[in-house]
Amino acid sequence: MTSVYDLLFRSATVVVRDRVEVRDVAVRAGVIERVAPSLSGPAREEVDCHGLALLPGAVDLHVHLREPGMTHKEDIASGTEAAVSAGVTTVFDMPNTSPPTTTLERLAEKAGAAARSARCHVRFYLALTADNLDEIERAASHPAFAGVKVFLGSTTGRTLVEDPGVIARALDRVPALFAFHAELESVLAAVRGSIPRPTASHHQVLRPAEAAVAGARLVADLASRPGRRLHLCHLSSAGEIAVLSRARPASRLTAEVTPHHLFFTHEDTDRLGNLLKVNPPVRAPADRDALLAALRDGPVNALATDHAPHTRHEKSLPYPQAPSGVPGLDTLVPAALRLVQVGALDLPRAVGLLSENPAGIAGLDRKGRVAEGYDADLILCDLDRTWTPADADVRTRCGWTPFAGRTLAARPLAVWVQGRRHRASPGI
Ligand code: DOR
Ligand code: ZN
Ligand code: ZN
Repeated sequence: MTSVYDLLFRSATVVVRDRVEVRDVAVRAGVIERVAPSLSGPAREEVDCHGLALLPGAVDLHVHLREPGMTHKEDIASGTEAAVSAGVTTVFDMPNTSPPTTTLERLAEKAGAAARSARCHVRFYLALTADNLDEIERAASHPAFAGVKVFLGSTTGRTLVEDPGVIARALDRVPALFAFHAELESVLAAVRGSIPRPTASHHQVLRPAEAAVAGARLVADLASRPGRRLHLCHLSSAGEIAVLSRARPASRLTAEVTPHHLFFTHEDTDRLGNLLKVNPPVRAPADRDALLAALRDGPVNALATDHAPHTRHEKSLPYPQAPSGVPGLDTLVPAALRLVQVGALDLPRAVGLLSENPAGIAGLDRKGRVAEGYDADLILCDLDRTWTPADADVRTRCGWTPFAGRTLAARPLAVWVQGRRHRASPGI
């Protein structure tokens, strides 16, 4: 019997292990069935990929979709639309919604909403609190459970955990991924109020690197027990890289960096003001350079957005009241591929950071690679083209991007989620 593929990609540039090769890729029933130098059809649809890269969709371990409770700035539909149209096909939603995701019931509600409206694969973190360990244990077997989020310092939302004993008990009971916002509250509290009339330019002084470094040390200590899976969110400083380098390789401690910490420094705050107010802050050029080096050569494992949309109106409030966070789903893949275009990363490393490594961290064993048996979450990219984002281009409901006016790589020409084509990005 002749097999009919659903999709046959012809002569695509793909990453095979650590090499860049030209391959045909065949998809059936949402799964990549064959990857070979030349395949014969028949196929329901053929896609000529000459000169184009067929990459795995990005897996973003860190997004804030804002549903429920803050849907004036994003919801699952709009956030995943922004994701997919720019090449992100799996997202992990953070629990600081309103109400926060602290119980199995709230996780199930989010999963139900995602089943109705999500444009891509979504999983949900539960927040650790002082008294929800039983709930986390029950939620851990839910198919939409992503892991546990621990806030060591205050930021948007109110689920702070300061007692390392609470965290250690949770780690002992739940064999899940634990992701940390690791700015340590005691260090933040010591600086709070120290500047009389603060503006956005003071943000990095009021949330100093020492807070993030002290938090990273605490997390590295917790990671030294075998069997635990700990993940440091949004590294922002050279000091955290040093902690991470010393912690490896004995422990399963992983870490992510965001594009905004790679493309901006506190000097950009003069121009962008509260729009660039984010926790942890963007810091000095030397910090940014250390993050970029650690992204290229290790020990950083993943790129993640920390997509944290707030409206322009909210951002226009005086500094103390303006919320922290920047949107990032529209620009993650273009920013990573821009680093390839300028020679800061090679393509296999960029794909590892965007897709394969985060899938591995999350335990998604069929996502993150263009390889046989993997889900057909695919993005077709012209690596020679660039894109200068404007606010009008983005799909996030908040309607702006800190990358407006910057040069990034073009968004994908087309995106498939489990073999189904999403409509092409606009303007390309
Ligand atoms: O800047 C931030 N915004 N940092 C966080 O940790 C939370 C996020 C948000 O939810 O707005
Ligand atoms: Zn955070
Ligand atoms: Zn976050």
